[in-house]
Amino acid sequence: MDAISVIRTKRDRGELSDEQIDWVIDAYTHGEVADEQMSALAMAILLNGMNRREIARWTAAMIASGERMDFSSLSRPTADKHSTGGVGDKITLPLAPLVAACGAAVPQLSGRGLGHTGGTLDKLESIPGWRALLSNEEMLNVLDTTGAVICAAGDGLAPADKKLYALRDVTGTVEAIPLIASSIMSKKIAEGTGSLVLDVKVGTGAFMKTIEDARELASTMVGLGTDHGVKTVALLTDMSTPLGLTAGNALEVRESVEVLAGGGPSDVVELTLALAREMLDAAGVRDVDPAKALADGSAMDVWRRMIAAQGGDPDAELPVAREQHVIKAGASGVLTRLDAYGIGVAAWRLGAGRARKEDPVQAGAGVELHAKPGDTVTEGQPLLTLHTDTPERFEYALESIEGSYDIGATGTAFTGSPVVLERIA
Ligand code: URA
Repeated sequence: MDAISVIRTKRDRGELSDEQIDWVIDAYTHGEVADEQMSALAMAILLNGMNRREIARWTAAMIASGERMDFSSLSRPTADKHSTGGVGDKITLPLAPLVAACGAAVPQLSGRGLGHTGGTLDKLESIPGWRALLSNEEMLNVLDTTGAVICAAGDGLAPADKKLYALRDVTGTVEAIPLIASSIMSKKIAEGTGSLVLDVKVGTGAFMKTIEDARELASTMVGLGTDHGVKTVALLTDMSTPLGLTAGNALEVRESVEVLAGGGPSDVVELTLALAREMLDAAGVRDVDPAKALADGSAMDVWRRMIAAQGGDPDAELPVAREQHVIKAGASGVLTRLDAYGIGVAAWRLGAGRARKEDPVQAGAGVELHAKPGDTVTEGQPLLTLHTDTPERFEYALESIEGSYDIGATGTAFTGSPVVLERIA
């Protein structure tokens, strides 16, 4: 077998055989297929696609490139959630302890932000002392004692995907549905969760800009999970406007704690509860009401134990950025649009995100929203507050906010998008 014949097969719109797929993933993981050869193959896959069998085999080969975790020693069923990434998407933070408080175990391997979408680990690292890197043993221990753990995936899990994802990121080959689906699902299946709920975001702030693409991605991932014995369900959810009222690391932790305290923005609460119900149902935990666990403080108790078990101080003051800049409404009326992508790019430029994998992030940086689409606003009232430690970034962030919102005349009729658009099982 050689890389050139595999590349040619896909370049010429052929089907890759099982042997070709197993060989190329294994050889790439071990450095026998060069980055330039794999990037040519990734581009051929992006342009010409893969069928269901090829995607399933590609995913299985990536799982086989590393270790598989095993949670069978736990006394509770496991449930995990994966979001395809959005702006202000802090849902994992209240969701993991909430589902644990209701009786499932939540092994949540999470990532860092790249580009305009935030990363769960960056958010939690704004809590003084909190550690994202745990050994497999530590992870299992936190999961067993608190019911939930949110941490970085170890190097041993789907190493082929780690290499390939980094390569796709710099070769314009991220946006291929077969590659996204196999990348996400290889990690989730190798992680060993019994059930999985996928939050597939749709809209300007998401990877998938159209409902058709989101549907295709969701049903591909649901099929892969089901074929591997993982009970998998997907919700397609709106990402045309940011979730909640904050985008940025410490800002989002603060908002998540508000949700755990029984408050918080209604869209964040609605999505957290919708995903919690799906996770509990998929894990076979019946007759519990997650809304009750938010109201009675039991989800908050798990959050505090989970943060402390990973070295964090749940009572510590969260970092606040040194400088703020307020954007005021230029007219009175109805906020009819507040674009997720523009706000996400602004938060990123303010220092909440990174341009390269090794860049540091600012814990306090980000954007705070004072109104959501559908709200009535008055000329001169604060609309957005930008936060950063480095005020020279304001101008660059303001450029991305220009044209990102519209204020209609007073009385303009407004019909917002529902938070949950569709369910695919
Ligand atoms: N997230 C992943 O883990 N992989 C992708 O390919 C895209 C998003």
